[in-house]
Amino acid sequence: MSHHDERTFVMVKPDGVQRGLIGDIVSRFEDRGLKLVGAKFMQIDEELAHEHYGEHEGKPFFEGLVEFITSGPVFAMVWEGADATRQVRKMMGETDPADSAPGTIRGDYGLDLGHNVIHGSDHEDEGANEREIDLFFDDAELVDWEMDTADWVYEDESH
Ligand code: RTP
Ligand code: MG
Repeated sequence: MSHHDERTFVMVKPDGVQRGLIGDIVSRFEDRGLKLVGAKFMQIDEELAHEHYGEHEGKPFFEGLVEFITSGPVFAMVWEGADATRQVRKMMGETDPADSAPGTIRGDYGLDLGHNVIHGSDHEDEGANEREIDLFFDDAELVDWEMDTADWVYEDESH
């Protein structure tokens, strides 16, 4: 194991799926040098939505958030790499696409807070990445593999 093996949970939300953005979003993480270790196209049910967004229960936007995230299929992924959780959040932009810089995913593809295209584990919430990976994926669904380009992405040591 090395410092290149941090994993994070990422998901194209129902608006991103409907708008045909799965491929573009996957490409951005591939291009960055991150390694895909799990992916599935799925429908989130009410129970999973409540668990995933449990931290927001009771807030005024919670019911709308659950309704949105269960409104159509999502594309769930696990990406691995150095500082993966924080780097993915930076690539996503701010929570509100209107505040997100061009060049970020939300800044390039979104205009509305409630339809912000993508989810990524919060790097400021300790352990959120591992919790969310466990919530969405069985161990057997995560693939251990050597990404040959890692020697070119990273300057030092093994991966
Ligand atoms: P996410 O969890 O979906 O990746 O988004 P995030 O960390 O950037 O933002 P978070 O604070 O966790 O909020 C979850 C989702 O709830 C919606 N939201 N609406 N109306 C509001 O004030 C409000 N605040 C948040 C957003 O769609 C956000 O992605
Ligand atoms: Mg969040």
